[in-house]
Amino acid sequence: MTKRTVKRQEQRRELRRRKQLILAGALGLAALVAVALLAYFAMLEDESAGVTVEVLPAELSVEGQLGEALFKVNCQACHGPNAAGTKLGPPLIHDIYNPGHHSDEAFYLAAATGVRQHHWPYGDMPAQPQVTREDVTLIIRFVRELQEANGIVRKAY
Ligand code: HEC
Repeated sequence: MTKRTVKRQEQRRELRRRKQLILAGALGLAALVAVALLAYFAMLEDESAGVTVEVLPAELSVEGQLGEALFKVNCQACHGPNAAGTKLGPPLIHDIYNPGHHSDEAFYLAAATGVRQHHWPYGDMPAQPQVTREDVTLIIRFVRELQEANGIVRKAY
């Protein structure tokens, strides 16, 4: 072998090594992009599926039980069984709705006039004019008793 052919072989080997490095880099990058995309789509899906929470059952008072019946008919379609949330409305058994942050008045107002979207990505809550103030009083009892059973208590803001 001449010196020249040895050199040429070395150059070829070096070129091959570089190509392998570039290929490995490209594959690594593609894998990273794929993982990032998967995470992104999983996140989007989560959002469109809405927020739901685990709700422990409560020992309901009589008023709480009456409130539950009213809640089922008027609120559950969006706020979910036991107010645990659905893809149409947020969970009310959530720290955001502790009595210090959303007083009972927020419930009367929500039913009477609806709610502008502000805390969540669901859109506005339409008014529920079929529900009387007395109905809402009972629904509040139901929600507060469930909140308490789930450790959601008044906090000062
Ligand atoms: C058509 C769906 C829908 C129905 C039915 C519905 N809600 Fe809502 N509600 C929502 C959505 C969506 C929000 C969240 C708005 C936001 O904060 O972005 C909400 C928010 C609320 C809030 C928070 C108000 C605030 O000041 O932030 C309360 C309280 C509430 N709902 C109570 C009720 C009660 C009680 C009923 C039944 C009488 C009811 N909702 C029925 C969709 C609904």
